[in-house]
Amino acid sequence: MLAIIGGSGLTQLSTLEVMRREVCRTPFGEPSGALTFGTLAGKTAVFLARHGYGHTIPPHLVNYRANIWALKQAKAKAIISVASVGGIREDFAPGTLVIPDQIIDYTWGRKSTFFEGGDTPVRHIDFTHPYDDKLRQQLLAASAAAGEHVFDGGVYASMQGPRLETAAEINRLERDGAHLVGMTGMPEAALARELELPYAAINVVVNYAAGRSSSEHGIHFDSIELVMHEAMVRVRRILEEFCRIA
Ligand code: HPA
Repeated sequence: MLAIIGGSGLTQLSTLEVMRREVCRTPFGEPSGALTFGTLAGKTAVFLARHGYGHTIPPHLVNYRANIWALKQAKAKAIISVASVGGIREDFAPGTLVIPDQIIDYTWGRKSTFFEGGDTPVRHIDFTHPYDDKLRQQLLAASAAAGEHVFDGGVYASMQGPRLETAAEINRLERDGAHLVGMTGMPEAALARELELPYAAINVVVNYAAGRSSSEHGIHFDSIELVMHEAMVRVRRILEEFCRIA
């Protein structure tokens, strides 16, 4: 069964034919909301809104451990994350969809491992390639089949938030090699790897990053809403196609 974690702009998956909702608890607390089970293109899938169904949980307060644990407990076999991002690379304009292939983690103070000593021995997972390549390839194939253009590869910078970045911070991220900036990619991806759940992401560029192009003088939220809404229609199409051909 596929799990989909929806971010800003995707707090509901309208294409999912809902069968049931399940409130669950984990050893790490409660996930962001009830798990929504249903079928997508005839295949069972489970959906979770990362920021809660009312979009009330900011990126640094999301219980990433509970979310990933709950999906594993629900017998998910893979996770596709949908997340809005800012575009640093010039060709990553608002409305662009990217399947990233690398991550740089700038977050701090988040619970970022299931293995914290005590009864559970410390573990160091291999994270050379943070996204599951097979899942990425399936997503790329689904996008092509859905007739939606997506970029194959990009370096995602995970920032602490919830504020957006300064122009100088974006310049630094670019020097570091980042192409996209968001706030929720980590520790989510690492936690999925710890539980051996294949994980890949669809990043939706909803604005140019601070100081870049149309965001040179600031980031305007009214235009973000519109871009996000339109792009999520395309994301839903890709997810449906993914389920159809997976
Ligand atoms: N920065 C960080 N996170 C984001 C942005 C951004 O510009 N846009 C959407 N999520």
